[in-house]
Amino acid sequence: MLKFRWINLTSEFLMKVKLIKKSEIQPGNRIFKRVMSKTYLIRRTDLSFEIIEYMCRHQLASLDLGELEGNIVTCSRHGWKYDIVTGKCVLGDGTSLKFCKFEEDEEWIYLILNSEGDEDNY
Ligand code: FES
Repeated sequence: MLKFRWINLTSEFLMKVKLIKKSEIQPGNRIFKRVMSKTYLIRRTDLSFEIIEYMCRHQLASLDLGELEGNIVTCSRHGWKYDIVTGKCVLGDGTSLKFCKFEEDEEWIYLILNSEGDEDNY
């Protein structure tokens, strides 16, 4: 079940969404998770986590419907390609995938969204 709460930081309302238990993903692995109609790629390194909005920057198709070869995913709609490690668009208009803000406690990773459900880049 999706759990979230609104927090007011400065003048903007942000939503903190419980995304994944840290124990669900081991170092060196990645998981795809769907939250409020968007797909996210959660990657765990030895030291930290990274969360990428796994949605094509052309027309927001979910990239989990595309083909993944090595680190390159090809969007199933019109063929734009992204490097899922760097987030860079390698075929398309050059707009990179979004890295998302997150917070963590000892047990959970929380995705931070603004009031319109969009993430801010780092
Ligand atoms: S929606 Fe992905 S290439 Fe058009």
